Amino acid sequence: MSILLVNGPNLNLLGTREPGIYGAATLADVEAAAVAQGEAAGHRVDCFQSNHEGAIVDRIHAARTDGTQFVVINPGAYTHTSVAIRDAFAGVSIPFCEVHISNVHKREAFRHHSYLSDIAVGVMAGFGVQGYTLALEFVIAQLEQAKT
Ligand code: DQA
Repeated sequence: MSILLVNGPNLNLLGTREPGIYGAATLADVEAAAVAQGEAAGHRVDCFQSNHEGAIVDRIHAARTDGTQFVVINPGAYTHTSVAIRDAFAGVSIPFCEVHISNVHKREAFRHHSYLSDIAVGVMAGFGVQGYTLALEFVIAQLEQAKT
C-alpha cells in the first residue's frame, strides 16, 4: 500500500524555473524528501512527473490497481484546464490532495479556478515546496487513522 506523488507540466524544471515564484529546490529534491518522509512513517511513496495530460490520466488509472491509497498532486497548469484529470480522479475514487507551490490566488485571474479543488480532500497553496511535506503529513495521518 502506498502514496502516489504526481507532478504535472513544467514541474520537471523546478529549481531553475521562475525561482522567484517556485524557489530553488529541484523536483529531485522534492521527490527524495517525499520518499524519505513516507519511509520514516512506514509508507512507500511512488513519484511520477509528466508534461502530458494523457500520461497523467493513465497514471491515475493505474493507481486503481497498484495499491495506491492516496494521491498528492501538483497538476501545474492542468489545474486550470483539465476536465480529463478531474474525471480520472472521479473515475478511480482514490482520495487526493492538491498542492501548489505558489499562492495561485494572489496571481493571475486564470490561476484562481481549479478543476480539481472541489473534489480534492484538501488544497495547499503558497507554502512553497513545504506544501508537499505538509500535505504528506496529513495523508500519512489519515492512513494511520484508517488502520485503527
Ligand atoms: C503551480 C501553479 C500553476 O498555476 C502553474 O501553472 C504551475 C505550478 C504551483 O505549484 O504553484 O505550473 O501548480
